[in-house]
Amino acid sequence: MTGTRDVRLAAATVSSGGRAPGATATHGGTHSPTTATLELPVCDLALRRATPADLPAIMAMVRAAFGYDLEAKLVERLEGERRVAVSVVAVSDGRIVGHALLSRVELIAPGEAGRPALALAPVAVAPDLQGRGIGTLVVRTCVRLADPRLPVFVIGDPAFYGRFGFEAATAHRVTQRFDVGAGHFMVRQTGRRPAASSKAALVERTLDYPAAFDGF
Ligand SMILES: CC(C)(COP(=O)(O)OP(=O)(O)OC[C@H]1O[C@@H](n2cnc3c(N)ncnc32)[C@H](O)[C@@H]1OP(=O)(O)O)[C@@H](O)C(=O)NCCC(=O)NCCS
Repeated sequence: MTGTRDVRLAAATVSSGGRAPGATATHGGTHSPTTATLELPVCDLALRRATPADLPAIMAMVRAAFGYDLEAKLVERLEGERRVAVSVVAVSDGRIVGHALLSRVELIAPGEAGRPALALAPVAVAPDLQGRGIGTLVVRTCVRLADPRLPVFVIGDPAFYGRFGFEAATAHRVTQRFDVGAGHFMVRQTGRRPAASSKAALVERTLDYPAAFDGF
């Protein structure tokens, strides 16, 4: 265990004061707790909803975390397409050091109306602060602020996202258009799960990642 991980000091404040652009989700609005505190292994870290003024700093941090531009552009495009449902930043000493975003997407099936869902992407932590629990906090906070009626989908490493309750979406026979490794397309359902036979069940649907995701 590193020295920094040994330092379990402060409680981070999770504030729902600010509101990300588009946070008034058409699919049920926001379901925000007022404030909450979390134990975390770093000091002086605040979690809050992103504001429009945060966009350049978020993009710079996301670009640095990934080492290229694609995910930073994704944040910009999702904002531009007004798809952002929840955007959470972790701030340390006035600097944005973590970010996670939920966008509004649809589950589609031939001959049926699309059903609302959420997509978690991107998730990023400043390179110099990775491995200290900040990624865990921004994901947990994002998921906590999500409309609990909607399934949340993510494409990523099951070793990371599995700890938040994400499970293979393919088990529900939900597909999507990207070529990803087995088990890397995942879903997390918070509300009461509909019976597999019910019309609300996820089974045999396609997650329609919108144009903002083109190029991945
Ligand atoms: C992935 C990322 C967001 C994780 O944030 P972080 O603050 O470094 O992660 P945490 O400190 O909260 O890690 C929590 C746990 O997840 C593990 N973990 C972190 N990143 C992981 C990854 N990419 N794959 C699998 N496990 C990972 C950690 O080892 C840690 O495990 P432990 O609790 O057993 O020690 C961050 O490392 C990052 O920005 N990476 C570059 C961008 C990226 O790959 N984003 C994700 C795209 S899907």
